[in-house]
Amino acid sequence: MFFQTNGLRLAYEDRGTGLPLVFLHAFPLNRSMWTPQLAVLSQQFRTIAIDMRGHGESDAPLWNFSLEHYADDVCALLDHLNIPQTVLVGLSMGGYISLAFSREHGNRLKALILSDTRAQSDSADGRRGRFQLAQTAFSQGSAAVADIMLPKLLGPTTLQTKQELVAYVRSTITTSSVSGIVTDLMAMADRPDSVRQLSTITAPTLIVIGQEDNTTPLADAQLMAERIPGARLAVIPLAGHLSNLEQPDLFNELVSRFAGELQKGTL
Ligand code: MLT
Repeated sequence: MFFQTNGLRLAYEDRGTGLPLVFLHAFPLNRSMWTPQLAVLSQQFRTIAIDMRGHGESDAPLWNFSLEHYADDVCALLDHLNIPQTVLVGLSMGGYISLAFSREHGNRLKALILSDTRAQSDSADGRRGRFQLAQTAFSQGSAAVADIMLPKLLGPTTLQTKQELVAYVRSTITTSSVSGIVTDLMAMADRPDSVRQLSTITAPTLIVIGQEDNTTPLADAQLMAERIPGARLAVIPLAGHLSNLEQPDLFNELVSRFAGELQKGTL
């Protein structure tokens, strides 16, 4: 399915009924990374996954955007679907977008699930790395980006034992557009520090982290859990940065329990 916002055509999937959960994907993937979640959680909730601008079946405009623009796209999707409030499930870049959404559209947020992400902005080194990766994407294409990103996205256990998943992540990155990749890199490099914002978040929050995540490690998750009032923290064993794909059953169980409590009104 598609909707239009600010002259862009963006793609999304909408399955199930009940409490709405909107899933925001990682860099440089697309909504297909949430397939194991929509397949199971749509039996209990309304599950919606969006291709962020530049990814999957969404338009890939050649321009410089901020993560606030991505958050506005999510809000436009809620308007399109007449959803007053949602649970956001954001992984990594999806988590950065969730934090931007919480700043810009906090009244539309019912709860937050922040997975394998961080509140800090990029360091100077981190920003230089983004610039270099953008130049690699431009000069060598998306396949070169896949080579660099695979060991950052997947934990050692997955890299050794789940070749189908490794192949899926590689092919998804390889088919990503260079403009989408570069737009994300610029937006992430320019994102503000959100650490001070954490103590102002009033939405119930669950933090999820793969035990083998070296890209946004446990300390980043602990910082968010300590600063967001009442936040819960869950660590998923034998998973790296893409914890929802590496251990989908455990990830689904965590979301199901947390969102189930919200749906019953016991959280
Ligand atoms: C992601 O998975 O979205 C990225 O690794 C996030 C980042 O590069 O900061």
